[in-house]
Amino acid sequence: MKKQILAATLFAVSMAASAQGQVNIICSVQAEWCNMISTVYARTTGTKVNMALKGSGEALAQLIAEKDNPKTDVWFGGTGDPHLQAAESGLTIEYKSPTLAQLYPWAQQQAEQSGFKTVGIYSGPLGFGYNTELLKKKKLAPPKSWADLLKPEWKGDIQVANPASSGTAYTMIATLVQLMGEDKAFEYLKGLHRNVSQYTRSGTGPIKAVARGETAVSISFVHDAPQERMQGFPVETVTPAEGTGSEIGSMSLIKGARNLDAAKKFYEWALTPQAQTFGAAAKQFQLPSNKSTPVDANVPDFKKIKMINYDYAKYGASAERRRLIARWEKEVNSLPR
Ligand code: G6P
Repeated sequence: MKKQILAATLFAVSMAASAQGQVNIICSVQAEWCNMISTVYARTTGTKVNMALKGSGEALAQLIAEKDNPKTDVWFGGTGDPHLQAAESGLTIEYKSPTLAQLYPWAQQQAEQSGFKTVGIYSGPLGFGYNTELLKKKKLAPPKSWADLLKPEWKGDIQVANPASSGTAYTMIATLVQLMGEDKAFEYLKGLHRNVSQYTRSGTGPIKAVARGETAVSISFVHDAPQERMQGFPVETVTPAEGTGSEIGSMSLIKGARNLDAAKKFYEWALTPQAQTFGAAAKQFQLPSNKSTPVDANVPDFKKIKMINYDYAKYGASAERRRLIARWEKEVNSLPR
């Protein structure tokens, strides 16, 4: 009997799924958030959700690779620069959401700058994470500035991601170039390289390493730390005294999407305040882009941080992003440590 009920339920669910179609999503936030929205959206709409998790740079690489035969309908999350590059490269389509007016100006600006081929879904500042216990043990004061990270005491004790795969790391390079001017920024990155133990694939790898005491310091988005703290790890964050940049986490509809209608429905859902609460529910604390989404107490307060006026259009331009990453590979990553 039970089996029959189960079979009937599965049949009903699969009918609902086929009635509502499916949507293929690349998700560039952390797994907990991706999985939560995938499950909730599938259950509440009957849409079959196929979700692939990829960092921002990797997602862009996949979209370029499948350009002639796209397998993706929506790209959800990840730093905004590669979304802007995708827009410029003709990988994503123009779509003016009726919800745009409900979003903060920075999220609308991201849409306007791309010819409405992407939109801001969240924002968050870049900073440093550090392990308070490890620092105590080593009798070291927390770093307060970009300059501090060059001190020899951090040799082999800093982690940051690789800008080719990670939008977080590209945000760091673009921030330093805007703060210092390009040549000085590359001199800085060479100095930093001496202290870096590892360039991780994913942007959140370094703060997780800090949490587990594998490294003392990380260059990370500030909003990625509370989750680690909630799990009991001794992680604190600081934003650099000279100033810092931020990301505009974005979302785009893919050109040639096989399930465009379903993709647009998901896109609209993702811009609603209700859907945007799943970030904090999954312990990810970016500032949501819809002005009506409740702001969790763990979301970093931008007013207390010295922010640069990050030029998203310039650093999201295809040629610029490619050039800066290539320069980093050639002049920094190739150096011995
Ligand atoms: C984390 C952050 C997001 C960010 C993403 C970028 O998930 O919470 O705010 O957009 O990393 O990932 P990436 O691996 O491309 O640096």
